[in-house]
Amino acid sequence: MQDQNFIDGHWRSAHSGKTFAVCDAATGEELARVPQSGALEAVDAINAADNAFHGWSTLSPSKRASFLTLIAQGMRERKTEFAQIMTAECGKPLDEAQGEVDYGADYFLSAADEANRLQSESIPSRRADRALNAIPEPIGIVGAITPWNFPLAMLARKTAPALAVGCTQVVKPAELTPLTALAFAQLLHDVGLPAGVVNVITGDPSSIGQAWLSDGRVRKLSFTGSTAVGRLLMKSAAEQVVRLSLELGGHAPFIVFSDADVSAAVVAAVNGKFRVAGQTCVCPNRFIVAEDVYEQFVSQFAAMAKELRVGRGRDAGVRIGPLIDDRAITRIRNQIKDAVSHGAKIVTGGETVHVEGCLDRFFAPTVLANASTEMLCFREETFGPLAPIAKFETESQAIEMANDTPFGLAGYIFSRDQNALQRVSRQLNCGIVGVNTGVISDAYAPFGGRGWSGFGREGGRWGIEEYISWKYVCAAVNG
Ligand code: SIN
Repeated sequence: MQDQNFIDGHWRSAHSGKTFAVCDAATGEELARVPQSGALEAVDAINAADNAFHGWSTLSPSKRASFLTLIAQGMRERKTEFAQIMTAECGKPLDEAQGEVDYGADYFLSAADEANRLQSESIPSRRADRALNAIPEPIGIVGAITPWNFPLAMLARKTAPALAVGCTQVVKPAELTPLTALAFAQLLHDVGLPAGVVNVITGDPSSIGQAWLSDGRVRKLSFTGSTAVGRLLMKSAAEQVVRLSLELGGHAPFIVFSDADVSAAVVAAVNGKFRVAGQTCVCPNRFIVAEDVYEQFVSQFAAMAKELRVGRGRDAGVRIGPLIDDRAITRIRNQIKDAVSHGAKIVTGGETVHVEGCLDRFFAPTVLANASTEMLCFREETFGPLAPIAKFETESQAIEMANDTPFGLAGYIFSRDQNALQRVSRQLNCGIVGVNTGVISDAYAPFGGRGWSGFGREGGRWGIEEYISWKYVCAAVNG
């Protein structure tokens, strides 16, 4: 297992020699120690990316695309290794971790397609004395700060488009899950990616982030994480006018209309809500269900949720792994307490589950009936396996409840009426809408939010655009 920084194609310790522990999310057992890097290593990484920039950015897009394809193949070949590391460090079930490897590899395949399509565009002008061209140039060195809930896919989502366009990159993975990113760096090394094109350092987020944003050579930073940290990054990015992509918190509504296929909606709700034990930005967080199918939805949902096996992600059949830390347990407990004090009823779950030999971080999938908009769980993102279900009477009431949040990442709607689905999709104030499905992630689509959920898009051609600085060339044409 790789446990050092990857800078300029070499494995290096922090200058201070200091390290920090990376632990198994289920047991707390130490898996490895990795460098406690800070500003010095952050600048080393930029220097390496700077040296590599000319060579990489002038390589033909099709050569870059070949590297991207090799990386995707390598990810799939090492699927088991990547999945085992992810399950150990972030706790997710092994089959979800394997799915994440495929999801991540798709970002490279999508970016390879886009690299092959990159070209200058000639712009028709009304004036005969000018030839106008738009040239896609890489924005420069780019930074990526990745989250712990998708240690590989979120890195892939940032690295693939950056490399496609010709940028070089500096990466800081989440402190809780750096081993996946280091294993990924090993893959980049093994496929022969030129030294310095991608540099991965582990350590202190604020000193690394600050060093990158104040350096002037890092021209873009892509961050997935909390809205609070996103705000701080926006302030720091102002100094050097660094372009940002921010994928921040979510608070997704899940609306079930009375004409929906309720059983299908329940299956979608369970799949969407309990993926990574409810610790995804896009997972449904507020269930808003038509009153005439409310009882049916609640009872079927609770029955399915109750059957989900809670345990260590590496064990067969487990659907709900541990939450990432003790704060997550406190947050879900507080939300449940608050909801119950406002009249909610716990239909299933509501407490931690003891798993032999593990930390007290496993929470039973929990369904709350009689939820309402004044409850904390309807106002704040949970990031845990809690499903509060409220009732609505009219379509406009459902839309109003759904949009009653400053967040705007994902939303889900269930109905058999195509007109209603289109109408409501348009009115939801969010970046992604799931129509009769609870899982919307796709590497070929523009993933991203609005409002407090951030800005910028990742995936497909939209993700590529974030790394391009278009140069407009206006040439005089002599008559
Ligand atoms: C996230 O929750 O941060 C991303 C989820 C996804 O891409 O599916």
